[in-house]
Amino acid sequence: MENSEQKKPIILSGITPSGMLTLGHLCGAISNWVKLQNSYDCYFMIADMHAITVRQQPAELRKRTLETAAIYIASGIDINMSKLFIQSHVPEHAQLTWVLNTYTGFGECSRMTQFKDKSQVHAENINVGLFDYPVLMAADILLYQADLVPVGEDQKQHLELTRNLAQRFNHLYSDTFKVPEPYIAKVGARVMSLQEPTKKMSKSDANQNSTIFLSDSDDVIKNKIKRAVTDSGSEVKFSDDKPGVSNLMELYHIATNKSISDIELEFEGKGYAEFKPAVADAVAEYVKPIRTEFEKLMKDKEHLTKILQQGADSARGAAFKTLRKVYKKIGFVQF
Ligand code: TYM
Repeated sequence: MENSEQKKPIILSGITPSGMLTLGHLCGAISNWVKLQNSYDCYFMIADMHAITVRQQPAELRKRTLETAAIYIASGIDINMSKLFIQSHVPEHAQLTWVLNTYTGFGECSRMTQFKDKSQVHAENINVGLFDYPVLMAADILLYQADLVPVGEDQKQHLELTRNLAQRFNHLYSDTFKVPEPYIAKVGARVMSLQEPTKKMSKSDANQNSTIFLSDSDDVIKNKIKRAVTDSGSEVKFSDDKPGVSNLMELYHIATNKSISDIELEFEGKGYAEFKPAVADAVAEYVKPIRTEFEKLMKDKEHLTKILQQGADSARGAAFKTLRKVYKKIGFVQF
């Protein structure tokens, strides 16, 4: 049993606990994790070390970290199969980051679009950690020898850097790291803002109507969707020049499993006035069981903490093995 489990390919992914998770996290990341977890040996982490690259309230960060774990489980991550842990509980993440820093060009980090975007939003605190963020992410992935990294589209550039670093290191010191593949689903990899559908849905959007949080009640979800910005015309059709409607169609697809062409057929000859309430109901139904389970899990923080401790213990075993190999190859004296 154990042997066959060890042979499964490996997945590593994570979410930064800097706010309540959104429908974007669910569609772009967690729902794919749930689908893949049977066929892979999975490590799902809560990236609290990434979170502090933007100033956080300590009490709030603690709360968000546990909430993120609760959302993973409520969404269907099976703790008997997948390892769930908090990044800062596994010190090897910081240790490998330091090593990888010395193989990463200043220019490579400067080119990261997320760094450029975040530097604009947090102009008062462009810290070295924010700059180094993609290297920490590479360490997260490479420590576990991950084969596959299921993420939303916005993480693609970070994955490319990870692959480059793995190949660079392997080339210099012989095979050390698995070179990971990104897994970006065709639908849901970029859920857009409900108010500005050319922008990604984000937990930090100033306009709360743009974002569906997984803690939102049925009524709040329905209202946000009914108020969503749609496009000119009234046809329910998936196309680049209809970003608002196309986004809602993707959400409807995810919530109901109906294909995009079936959705077009379903609403042929009907306008947005019929389409939007249908999306609103479907999305509310989709999120409801997750929210209910999440609320239940948050009532027993001790239980959650215990799960995370166990997860960290097994993650450390794997992480330590890779770090030791790296230290040996670069010339650190080993005991
Ligand atoms: P984060 O916390 O910004 O997002 C977590 C995951 O959710 C996806 N996502 C979305 N997908 C579709 N539409 C959206 N609107 C949307 N918003 C978020 C993201 O693409 C991501 O997959 N640095 C990472 C966390 C991280 C990580 C890692 C991920 C740290 N180490 C190692 C994978 C592997 C981040 O901040 O993602």
